[in-house]
Amino acid sequence: MIKIKENQKINFSPRTFLRTMASFFASNTCTFSRSNYMAESSQDGLKIGFAGKGGVGKTLLASTIARLAARKEIFENVLAIDNDPSLNLGMSLGLEDDEIGPPISEMSDLIKERTGATPGSGLAFKLNPYVEDIPDEYTVNAPDGVRLLVLGTIQDPGSGCLCSANALVRELLYHLIVQRNELVILDFEAGVESSLGRATSKGLDVLFIIVEPGQKSIKVGQHMAELATKLGIKNVFSILNKMMDEEQQTILEEPLERAGAPVFGTVPYSRAILEADLKGIPVLDSSPEDAAVKSMNAILEKILKEFYPSCERKPAPLV
Ligand SMILES: Nc1ncnc2c1ncn2[C@@H]1O[C@H](COP(=O)(O)OP(=O)(O)OP(=O)(O)O)[C@@H](O)[C@H]1O
Ligand SMILES: [Mg+2]
Repeated sequence: MIKIKENQKINFSPRTFLRTMASFFASNTCTFSRSNYMAESSQDGLKIGFAGKGGVGKTLLASTIARLAARKEIFENVLAIDNDPSLNLGMSLGLEDDEIGPPISEMSDLIKERTGATPGSGLAFKLNPYVEDIPDEYTVNAPDGVRLLVLGTIQDPGSGCLCSANALVRELLYHLIVQRNELVILDFEAGVESSLGRATSKGLDVLFIIVEPGQKSIKVGQHMAELATKLGIKNVFSILNKMMDEEQQTILEEPLERAGAPVFGTVPYSRAILEADLKGIPVLDSSPEDAAVKSMNAILEKILKEFYPSCERKPAPLV
């Protein structure tokens, strides 16, 4: 909608008129509107996971793409989920430590209330605890309207009886992945077995495996791609991060494509990211014009085009 201030003189050239009309129609091409959004289908949301070897840039990409997506105002909610024990996603989004609460996986009272058993008690627990209110009740507001849910991780069931905590985390992942209408971005724990499982992969629309130039990263990426395919994830792609030249890209492309994760996008190595990291500021705030930020925006545009075509982008306001 174009807002016109009182007594404001507007000069409507034919070009402006055409742009206005195009914007009007573009803003009405969504197959749903906010009022019938929930009722129409549970398939309108988009769930994207970011996985890969330790330190490749999962959290950087997940946080920046979540904020860029929220700025576009296409989704009813953009929910960023920290599924990593190091719990860095909040900071990468731009939150201070004291603004981020404890992970759901450590909230003993909540776990007891929902599953009937305190973690570690060894008591019988509910397999399908009620979780529907958790994304609304336990999220933290982050910059640009992103909502952060600090989930924590699913512990190895062999490591003791944290079964009730695991049941709650698992149910939440299932629930978020199949029932909510929003953009859900999951920042996974590093590694293969620890991050990808039946609960985490359920209903995931796209899995991005982040790969940096280096054989270890390629190997982990290949292993993940193969596992993801076995788990039935429909869209598995790699994103090449910290890239310095085209030669590196050529070396990485072939083995990843062969493993079932063709390259979806590339993010260059960036000094601005390192400087921002040192200052504890998101690169999106310190250097919004940096080439790496632009490439993450291009990746988001491609995600929307490929996986969310039912709703066109809202145009930028003309005022
Ligand atoms: N394109 C880039 N250019 C330069 N530095 C980068 C780039 N991407 C990420 N980094 C740096 O790499 C480091 C790791 O990034 P990040 O924490 O996002 O990785 P991660 O995969 O989430 O790590 P972890 O496995 O520990 O969760 C950070 O210091 C980050 O600033
Ligand atoms: Mg991380």
